[in-house]
Amino acid sequence: MIRAMADFATLDVAGAEVIDHRPHLVMPGFIDTHLHFPQTQVIASWAAELLDWLNDYTFPEETRYQDPALCATMAARFLDRLTDHGTTTAVAYASVHTSSAEALFAEALKRNMRLITGKVLMDRNAPEGLRDTAQSGYDDSKRLIARWHGKGRLGYAITPRFAITSTPAQMQAAQTLAHEHPDCHIQTHLSENHAEIALACELYPEAADYTDIYAHYGLLRGNSLLGHAIHLSEREVGALAEADAKPVFCPTSNLFLGSGLFDDARLRAAGLTNALATDIGGGTSYSMLQTLAESYKVLQLQRQRLHPFRAFHWITRGNAEALGMADRVGTLDPGTEADLVVLDARATPAMAQRMERARGLMDELFTLQVMGDDRAVVQTYVAGVACKR
Ligand code: GUN
Ligand code: ZN
Repeated sequence: MIRAMADFATLDVAGAEVIDHRPHLVMPGFIDTHLHFPQTQVIASWAAELLDWLNDYTFPEETRYQDPALCATMAARFLDRLTDHGTTTAVAYASVHTSSAEALFAEALKRNMRLITGKVLMDRNAPEGLRDTAQSGYDDSKRLIARWHGKGRLGYAITPRFAITSTPAQMQAAQTLAHEHPDCHIQTHLSENHAEIALACELYPEAADYTDIYAHYGLLRGNSLLGHAIHLSEREVGALAEADAKPVFCPTSNLFLGSGLFDDARLRAAGLTNALATDIGGGTSYSMLQTLAESYKVLQLQRQRLHPFRAFHWITRGNAEALGMADRVGTLDPGTEADLVVLDARATPAMAQRMERARGLMDELFTLQVMGDDRAVVQTYVAGVACKR
């Protein structure tokens, strides 16, 4: 826990071990609000767009996670990748298999890491071996919530993958879960791609639009995380704002899959709080620094800017606020959980050369934002414990 934050000269450090990280920057550990645990080996898969990418690479890969031994190995590797890149809190989709959520929770508990995950609910439009049923998805989610939610630093997210892979019966089961567990997050995907939107609306013809499908099943509320949220009508933006749901901007994924440009200014003007995320493995980097670099470019194309102060706020306190967790993570406030990252803006020869002409903190942060990745992460502390090897 962070006991105090002040100028070193004024702190009483008697009896404490002093670690001097000068001249590097120390800030709250990064928070990744949307990524997929079983997709670490589909990053960089050659596909035209979202639905091909899901069917050709992602669904076949996720079927492997029915094997608990594979899940355990991959959970350790997944969390290593996160902390290597300075990420200390993550909101991750597991696969449809209970074993994947179990393994990820167990590994995060062992590391005392703040992690939110949930088994994916998907009972149609997916291959054999990757489908549950409305009833089994409900029962398995209930068991996982009872076993893991609120244990250590863990939280459960009710996880209907997206409208296309859930029958109305399963959406109803998700609604019941959401109603029974108001303190669990809800995560799903919304309006990422035109073909996806058309298919979702075809499968739910009574819905006014894609957003209305989730609204109809009670899945829009303050702790709902909606991945992508790119192609939205005014009505949809209004409905999301009214529910205080949280759109999640996934820039590297949106560019990689050619999905579209997230309109941050428009959603913020409507009163929404946007989260930011890697979306591994549609996303191409675990690094929240690289995610900021691509955010900057996506917003530039829309004549919006991402100032480095706002950028670093976004991946720390901003994402913590979007998750409703700013009293625990994302800040250096006394009483919070001491997840920290230490950054070196001169980590590579190219960065060091750029930094020779830096005029102050803004330039240092912008160098990290544009040129940084895991090489710039000197150390990562999870609940006060150093974990970068
Ligand atoms: N929509 C439904 N599932 C997925 C997924 O795994 N990745 C992305 N990017 N979009 C999705
Ligand atoms: Zn996703």
